[in-house]
Amino acid sequence: MSADKRAPLVVTIDGPAASGKSSTAQMVAARLQMRHLDSGMIYRCVTAARLRAGDSPEHWTEQSVLDEAGRVSLVPGATSFLPRLDGEDCEAEIRGEAVTGTVSLVAKMPRVRAWVNALVRATAAAHEIVVDGRDMGTAVFPDARLKVWLVAMAAERARRRILQRTGQAPTSEALATEAAELEARDRKDREQTQPAADAIWIDTTGITQVEQVERIVAMAEGLR
Ligand code: CDP
Repeated sequence: MSADKRAPLVVTIDGPAASGKSSTAQMVAARLQMRHLDSGMIYRCVTAARLRAGDSPEHWTEQSVLDEAGRVSLVPGATSFLPRLDGEDCEAEIRGEAVTGTVSLVAKMPRVRAWVNALVRATAAAHEIVVDGRDMGTAVFPDARLKVWLVAMAAERARRRILQRTGQAPTSEALATEAAELEARDRKDREQTQPAADAIWIDTTGITQVEQVERIVAMAEGLR
């Protein structure tokens, strides 16, 4: 944690796939009267925009992805920034299998990363944000005053993600498939998924979401 009390408060929450970053960031933002920004959602929107063009991802060039990025925008809601694609809600599309299976390819493109990072920084210049992703505490906000690194065991991350998606407890088969998919995505994202040296680690495997939110809120309040 940096000691600079004058800079606008940015809280970063990073970690591997389905570690609970977004739901935690959303609750922390609501408690602190800040806004939540999900950087992964922006990568998902850019991917959805490119997928709409219809050709197979193996033919995608970095420029052809960037050409679609301008169709993505963010609108401020009460406690978070909401994604828009061509000005419309795209939440269901960006959480679907097509986007989830392709987003890591798009996220490897350096100029796409630069485009997303510029959008995230511009948002933080105008609003106090709790931002979650993979590299928010390293590449994007190296001077953030509070950085959190959330981890949990793969089986627990898989259980939570299925519960979130279906509202039901998973079968052991579904759990194994989901855990394997999450770990495969972690491998693809490994290069840009690193904890900052000054991040606070929270392993959420054995604690409730309320507990993890309380810990982060308490640390953030100490900085205000
Ligand atoms: O499903 P999960 O919540 O783990 O992922 P997400 O936060 O929605 O991010 C989707 C994808 O975007 C990741 O698998 C990464 O490929 C990419 N991403 C990234 O590269 N850097 C970020 N700061 C956030 C997401």
